[in-house]
Amino acid sequence: MTAGPTTPTPGVRQTTYAGCRLSADEPDSGPAETGAMSTTSETTKRTAPAARWPLGRRTRQTVLVVHIVSAGAWIGIDVIVAVLVLAGWFGDDAGTRGIAYQALSKFVVLPMLTAGLTCLVTGLLLGMATKWGLVRYRWVLVKLVLNVVLCSLILVALQPGMAEIGEYGAALAAGGNPDDAVVSQSFYPPAVSLTALSLATVLAVMKPWGKTRRREVASKGARQRQ
Ligand code: HEM
Repeated sequence: MTAGPTTPTPGVRQTTYAGCRLSADEPDSGPAETGAMSTTSETTKRTAPAARWPLGRRTRQTVLVVHIVSAGAWIGIDVIVAVLVLAGWFGDDAGTRGIAYQALSKFVVLPMLTAGLTCLVTGLLLGMATKWGLVRYRWVLVKLVLNVVLCSLILVALQPGMAEIGEYGAALAAGGNPDDAVVSQSFYPPAVSLTALSLATVLAVMKPWGKTRRREVASKGARQRQ
């Protein structure tokens, strides 16, 4: 019979975190900067870094669910954008192509921005409510930058061109021959966004790269003082 995960194994150093949930694959970056550490021959206890805004377990789980759902919705909307762009460019007849561009111009920006901002706000809450912080770990910081950049791009790069794309689609559907230059760049937004969101998802799951440099220095200082 094998020992359960909580059964201490004699002679094996055990690391226990208290305070908030830690994933098993958290990089071992030394003792936490704000935590106490006590070592015996058999057991090492480490306290996780304090969360800035600790939330109750249920609330944190709810925020995490909303975070994951909004991230998934955002990716889904990007897939729809990619399909509409491909249908608009490669569609068989002008009517279908025109409708695809009109749908793109009317139904995409608001849901995408809503999903992006929901993901950002819940991500910020999760960062503040857990030991991950916002600038403590590289993977969180990179996700934060990606999220802010993508939301900004929706507003400054995607939204302003949508009216023109709609007019292009309407002209196409009406049998006209509008200038393709209006839609020739429309492949980039879904390609860039899907790549960045896939990267963010990989980072969320793998949690690579450990702490940011500033936090590593702070951790070393705390270790030396102990
Ligand atoms: C860019 C879009 C984002 C995507 C696609 C995304 C995706 C995800 C996913 C799938 C998880 C669940 C991972 C797991 O439980 O194993 C997660 C967790 C998390 N995300 Fe995001 N995220 C994004 C943005 C952000 C932002 C902007 C922040 C904070 C500034 C953030 C902070 C976090 C934190 C701290 C967790 C871990 C929560 C926990 O384990 O308690 N995320 N994210």
